[in-house]
Amino acid sequence: MKPLGPIPAGYGAIDGELAIAGRKASELVELAGRTPLFVYSRELVEQRVAELRAALPARVALHYAVKANPHAPLLAAMTGLVDGFDIASGGELEMIRAAGINPARISFAGPGKRDAELEAAIAAGVTLNLESEGEAARALAIADRLGVVPKLAVRVNPDFDLKGSGMKMGGGAKPFGVDAERVPALVGTILAAGADWQGFHIFAGSQALDAAAIADTQAQTIALAARLSREVGQPLPKCNLGGGFGIPYFPGDIPLDLASVGAALGERLAQLPAELAETRFCIELGRYLVGEAGVYLTRIVDRKVSHGETYLVTDGGLHHQLAASGNFGTVVRRNYPVAIASRFDAPVEEEASVVGCLCTPLDRLADKAGFPRAEVGDLVAVFCAGAYGASASPAMFLGQGPAAELLV
Ligand SMILES: Cc1ncc(COP(=O)(O)O)c(C=O)c1O
Repeated sequence: MKPLGPIPAGYGAIDGELAIAGRKASELVELAGRTPLFVYSRELVEQRVAELRAALPARVALHYAVKANPHAPLLAAMTGLVDGFDIASGGELEMIRAAGINPARISFAGPGKRDAELEAAIAAGVTLNLESEGEAARALAIADRLGVVPKLAVRVNPDFDLKGSGMKMGGGAKPFGVDAERVPALVGTILAAGADWQGFHIFAGSQALDAAAIADTQAQTIALAARLSREVGQPLPKCNLGGGFGIPYFPGDIPLDLASVGAALGERLAQLPAELAETRFCIELGRYLVGEAGVYLTRIVDRKVSHGETYLVTDGGLHHQLAASGNFGTVVRRNYPVAIASRFDAPVEEEASVVGCLCTPLDRLADKAGFPRAEVGDLVAVFCAGAYGASASPAMFLGQGPAAELLV
């Protein structure tokens, strides 16, 4: 039997069924009218924000990386919880504006911004995290044509990465940001053009569970921001320290020691050099804010045995949960936390694989894991589904279409 990932804190059972935000899984499915269904718990997101606020220095603002989950009601709920939003496309700009969020709270990072996206962002007063000299030139020309003073920051490609991170976004050649040694010259051009200089965005990696590695990266980020500001010859208005706080997805993963990240950052901020004395700092988090607050519910439509192995065939799959299937950047496939939601407190009785309804061997939500005996009609829960689920999976594959989504 292969192990399953750890079920996040905050979930319990009512009448033997998985309960999310105090409501039974079957009740939530009834409310949504169908499976597959993503359920996001507002309460768990609020709790996470409160933990972050308690652990991090008060001087550090909290930004939400919209790419993790742009579900409209969730964005609306986030407005009162976080200080800013980071978007990665013109599409996300539209989503966030539709949620009524003030564009002054938004920054826009991401390679390959089209002219139309730059124009929409500049006109709205969004801060652009510039990814290259070419993008800077286009942004300045567009702002000039619009007669607007653009809010510009530079995304720096640092010479270091976030050790142990699932996704490295710095350290060597990268399509993201401007190589650190060319940044002072670019900032000089931005200042000379009369733009509203916002500062640096330095994002070194994502999905790290090692507090010491995060603290070390934050220290290197602050040192780099100070060095670049000295070379620019101006105090730094803002510094986005990146994020990279990970969540436990797999067996053996240990939750991040948030208190020690916060304490180390507090110590760094207490000894800032002169050019950063007045700098406003922020961190930018996606999955850490919303990942564990989401559950994907899918119904078993068939139970079958092949060569002695049991398959629970569901109406969901990798078209909604690419990451849980092991096809979103993982090298070795391991099981996410998965459970039979309708028999949540029942003991393990058999080994089974939970598969999706797509005709590909890649469509596997749990591989040879231990479950209570489940039948057709039972609900399966895939946890850690609040980030990079619905919006990061190929919903149109095989004509399946999107899952329902519910914020409770
Ligand atoms: C620039 C940037 N910001 C934020 C994120 C969000 O990362 P996470 O969801 O791991 O916090 C990413 C992820 O790749 C990113 O590239």
